[in-house]
Amino acid sequence: MDSSNKISRREAVKKMGAVAATAAISMSGVGALASCAETVAAGLDRPLKVLLLNGSPRRNGNTFTLLSEIASQLNKNKIESEIFQLGNRPIRGCVACGQCHAKGLDKCVFDDDVCNQIAEKLATCDALVVGSPVYYGMPAGQVLSVLQRLGYSAGKYMQGKPAAAVTVCRRGGATSAFMSLQMAFQMLNMPIVTSQYWNIGYGAAPGEVAKDEEGLQTMRTLADNLAYMLTQFATGTAQPPKREQWKMTNFIR
Ligand SMILES: Cc1cc2nc3c(=O)[nH]c(=O)nc-3n(C[C@H](O)[C@H](O)[C@H](O)COP(=O)(O)O)c2cc1C
Repeated sequence: MDSSNKISRREAVKKMGAVAATAAISMSGVGALASCAETVAAGLDRPLKVLLLNGSPRRNGNTFTLLSEIASQLNKNKIESEIFQLGNRPIRGCVACGQCHAKGLDKCVFDDDVCNQIAEKLATCDALVVGSPVYYGMPAGQVLSVLQRLGYSAGKYMQGKPAAAVTVCRRGGATSAFMSLQMAFQMLNMPIVTSQYWNIGYGAAPGEVAKDEEGLQTMRTLADNLAYMLTQFATGTAQPPKREQWKMTNFIR
């Protein structure tokens, strides 16, 4: 990022503007406002970066296709991103031991899966997108395990950062899974980024969601909105995105 664009933290906070103000209103507590301001300051010292979590055990499946569409559109908006895949190995759930708090770890006390790798990435990203396949109308279990463990142990790295959920299914249950993922963001003071529709796609076999034109467009709009929100947070100078003409399809046709 061009260092000539750097402004002081005080100026940045002053310039946060309407979008950030709206987000700040939805956050509870001074801590949330402080971390929002930290994001503002941090965003000016380095390229803005979004962490995209692929919660599917299928590395190149439909969740990956949707997240790739978001990454590509973020790139057009000059925002960096990284897709991190949870993998197909077991991820334990939270056992409520409280050791993360007792020891002041800012990560989970159990270090035997990808959870703490994600905690480290959360510490340096500016926004989070969580993608999951739909399993029985719910997000995949490993995504929930990671969100619950990290929300509890490393929530300080999530506070104030914009977040979005993305789900993909063969036929049904995408909206309930989508809403379920958003529940965590709402408790972690994360301003939720929206799109022209719920952030869902349809497809069964790996890559099939690429036929869902409206789903892909929803991802691009989400990325534009996220870029707008992040840039507005950072500089207060963002222009609202230009909208594509809505492609309205029934399922994928
Ligand atoms: C255990 C399991 C449960 C599933 N449950 C649903 C479901 O409730 N509704 C649905 O439409 N598709 C369901 N599916 C299909 C997947 O959501 C769909 O194939 C999705 O595209 C997978 O995403 P991925 O390629 O990123 O893994 C299920 C698949 C599995 C393996």
